[in-house]
Amino acid sequence: MPEETQALEAQFDATVAADRRIEPRDWMPEGYRKTLIRQIAQHAHSEIIGMQPEGNWILRAPSLRRKAILLAKVQDEAGHGMYLYAAAETLGVDREDLTERLIDSRQKYSSIFNYPALSYADIGVIGWLVDGAAICNQVPLCRCSYGPYARAMIRICKEESFHQRQGYELLLAMVNGTDTQREMVQESVNRWWWPSLMMFGPPDGDSPNTQQSMAWGIKRHTNDELRQRFVDMSVPQAAALGVTLPDPDLRWNADRGAHDYGEPDWAEFKAVISGSGPANAQRVAHRRRAHDNGAWVREAAQAYADKQAARTKEAAA
Ligand SMILES: [Fe+2]
Ligand SMILES: [Fe+2]
Repeated sequence: MPEETQALEAQFDATVAADRRIEPRDWMPEGYRKTLIRQIAQHAHSEIIGMQPEGNWILRAPSLRRKAILLAKVQDEAGHGMYLYAAAETLGVDREDLTERLIDSRQKYSSIFNYPALSYADIGVIGWLVDGAAICNQVPLCRCSYGPYARAMIRICKEESFHQRQGYELLLAMVNGTDTQREMVQESVNRWWWPSLMMFGPPDGDSPNTQQSMAWGIKRHTNDELRQRFVDMSVPQAAALGVTLPDPDLRWNADRGAHDYGEPDWAEFKAVISGSGPANAQRVAHRRRAHDNGAWVREAAQAYADKQAARTKEAAA
């Protein structure tokens, strides 16, 4: 390694070790840049694809109030996608290219969004469990070593806590309603619990990149640590709702000061993440259609920007 690169690398290591931020102008190892591009792009794609299962219910919301809440939530997710694509662009990639990679299935997104939302109770349960799991994953990212990603996450996390609360509030209303509504909530929890646990990724023993990501200050906790935190947080919330979490092995372990819980079906996780989930094909096809339908908007925006740039240049001359 040339001496100059060695000095830059030492500076990078010192910045990370001191818990300061790496900025786009700074030198960074190629592996760090690639890891971040992959992670931020997957995160951005997840926000955008994640609009679909819930967006599907906007026209069927049971009241104006519920519609306004759901609309606001789904719009927030679009905004999250935009901040994250912008953060990825600071690493030298192009948003257009990232979108192409998503709709060609060359890049992944969170496995959770390949499950369908089948009832309005799902809107509550997605907010409670899926956004709740997202919060556990994302709060530590506010301290990620890469500045633009960390800063995007601060605003995103504030909005995610609204998402979680609106879901829980909907569920509280439903469990205080009729027997049928209580059954709808339980049925929905039965379907979403295990996929929510899978959102933290494979078990630590099967997650080869975790150690490197932690050394780089991208990740702050392992998958299993975050999953445990989510389980411990969800148990009392489930009790307050009066719903049962569908895991016969779930119990308090006084020695560990944490809940023991069963093993998610990792074969299902692998199948869903690699394209064979219940809604993968539909999600990607829908995203592709939306992208194609928006081509004229992008062309018009580009033509306008070109015209403005030409005028500015003319005026300067
Ligand atoms: Fe989000
Ligand atoms: Fe959210």
